[in-house]
Amino acid sequence: MASKVYEWLDSRLKLKTVERTLLDEPIPGGASWIYVFGSATLFLFLLQAITGMFLALYYAPTPDHAYDSVTFIENEIAFGPFVRGLHHWGASGMVVAIGLHMLQVFLYGAYKPPRELLWMVGVVLFLITLGFAFTGYLLPWDQNAYWATQIGINMVGTVPVIGDLAVRVLRGGETLGALTLSRFFAVHVLFLPATIAVLILLHLFILRCVGPAGPWRGGAERRKSGESEEPSYGLVERRLRISEPFYPRQVSMDAVVMLAIFACLSLLALTVSFPLTDKADPSDTTFVPIPEWYFLFYYQLLKYVHGPLEPLATWILPALFFLGLLFWPFLDRNPARHPAARPAALAAGTGFLLLVFVLLGISLRDLHAVPRTDPAVARGKALYVQFGCAGCHRIHGEGGAVGPDLSYVGDTRPDRDWHLRHFRDPQAVSPGSFMPKFPLTDRQIGDVTGYMLSLKRPT
Ligand code: HEC
Repeated sequence: MASKVYEWLDSRLKLKTVERTLLDEPIPGGASWIYVFGSATLFLFLLQAITGMFLALYYAPTPDHAYDSVTFIENEIAFGPFVRGLHHWGASGMVVAIGLHMLQVFLYGAYKPPRELLWMVGVVLFLITLGFAFTGYLLPWDQNAYWATQIGINMVGTVPVIGDLAVRVLRGGETLGALTLSRFFAVHVLFLPATIAVLILLHLFILRCVGPAGPWRGGAERRKSGESEEPSYGLVERRLRISEPFYPRQVSMDAVVMLAIFACLSLLALTVSFPLTDKADPSDTTFVPIPEWYFLFYYQLLKYVHGPLEPLATWILPALFFLGLLFWPFLDRNPARHPAARPAALAAGTGFLLLVFVLLGISLRDLHAVPRTDPAVARGKALYVQFGCAGCHRIHGEGGAVGPDLSYVGDTRPDRDWHLRHFRDPQAVSPGSFMPKFPLTDRQIGDVTGYMLSLKRPT
């Protein structure tokens, strides 16, 4: 029955031809675990696309609702935290996979003629991925998202001539607000996916035109690059000369890696939480945002340059880096592919990686030293919202004026015990007070008190 259906479909759709085109691509030197990063990246992209579609079912791209809709996904939706976790860690995974893919291509000299276009489209794909990361970061509309994006946009503003225009295009208005959010959302879920889909197809199309590069010691390759006198490696040497179709061994290696990636991401999504910071508050200019880990090294670099040198880090170096990366196949004129015959390229690559990891290391150490907001304070703040304290109290201009202004209550009433007693029974502490006695548990009273004590004048 199944074979009948297949035959019928094949007679209409020429399935066998399609199958052959898809699966019989010869891999010079045979299948290898080192070639899995491209398909790993593709898999992660598809995972991002699918989890993103599900998140979009609930997400609302407006300043009034974005934060709440993400909180809703986290707290109320079945599998919500899991899907959001997959999307969050998947983004990191995609950056890692692309990095490894590029490293492999770099190390193998696989960007060299005739594969220059393949590399260049790859670099653009990498840039688009960073575009996804940048636009996606704003969407939860929490303090971190808001202020990290603010920094990113300010950096774009330092580019001469086009900077102002670019900032206006990015922001959509005079300040970072509703227009920015809907714009980032549209770019994140419509413009970038459409662009990346076309470029992925182009990347694969070019790959099929030029064929995979294979190992650096193929016989033909050696002759072409003029490395004639090399020791013979016997068996290995013979294996390198043959090629093997994409199916079944490379396909199964790719599949194993995809499964492993999915398992790792699921584990991360289920076990490591990444709580939102407070809802974005455009007036709180003291907030210091922390970017995603893969931007940390760059964030650290920014700390070292000030004053007239600033443009160097905000746009000159990044622009030079990406231009260099894009045109790398034309800058590196050495025809050899074996790493031992390319000391300059390897030194450049290693130097760059060293710089990145040293900066990342310093930045992680610094971050570790910064005191993080106490989770009890965050819970207390949530209770403050939940019990409608703002109906009577004002904090930084928001809320009613029935009760005392609490903006700096941590300074005026620093006594923890006083608050505990006051919340348990306001009238016992302030006779005649009409502050209601809230049905709070001891732990909740502790949390609200923690929040009250944290409300201090900036020092
Ligand atoms: C119906 C209005 C009302 C609500 C709702 C209310 N309060 Fe009050 N609150 C008052 C009044 C009136 C006072 C001043 C009298 C007193 O100290 O009890 C006060 C005093 C306080 C004080 C002492 C401030 C100071 O400087 O002496 C704190 C702290 C406080 N409230 C926190 C809260 C928190 C937290 C909530 C929400 C869980 C809350 N209040 C809800 C009316 C309210």
